[in-house]
Amino acid sequence: MTEPSWRVLNRAMWDERVPFHLSSRLYDLPRFKAGALSLRAHEIADLGDVSGKELIHLQCHFGKDTLSWARLGARVTGLDFSEAAVKAAAALAREIGVDARFVTADVYDAPAALGQRTFDIVYTGVGALCWLLDMERWAKVVFDLLRPGGQLYL
Ligand SMILES: C[S@@+](CC[C@H](N)C(=O)[O-])C[C@H]1O[C@@H](n2cnc3c(N)ncnc32)[C@H](O)[C@@H]1O
Repeated sequence: MTEPSWRVLNRAMWDERVPFHLSSRLYDLPRFKAGALSLRAHEIADLGDVSGKELIHLQCHFGKDTLSWARLGARVTGLDFSEAAVKAAAALAREIGVDARFVTADVYDAPAALGQRTFDIVYTGVGALCWLLDMERWAKVVFDLLRPGGQLYL
């Protein structure tokens, strides 16, 4: 099937944004590299102890939030359709010495891209859902990614 032009354009926009975000004050990478977490306090409080839990971060961008969950002890996978973002995420993980897996795929293809693997937590962060056209299909993806008793954190 031909990829719709809106999606090609949207992904190109994200590819282009990666280098800007990496050096932006908004994302403040120096602080993150020095050990700060990028998660909001309520997210950490809501999910509680994540140590040892398997977490998939949908639309992870260049992985700051994904790697923050890893710093809190989760076993993390980040997924994004921007190859530039995923490459930057993997490089960031290597640089700060945090174990993480990053996968390039459209969120709607996540279960297949992850080999039907399931997770304890599906996390999606700030500024993610607004780019998606079909929330019922997205919810089915989340359902397929969660193991019984797993949690979606939105
Ligand atoms: C605003 S960013 C997320 C920012 C992230 N919460 C953070 O703070 O770093 C939105 C991300 O969604 C990704 N994205 C948009 N549509 C997508 C899709 N259909 N499948 C996978 N990723 C997608 C973009 O590549 C981008 O990295």
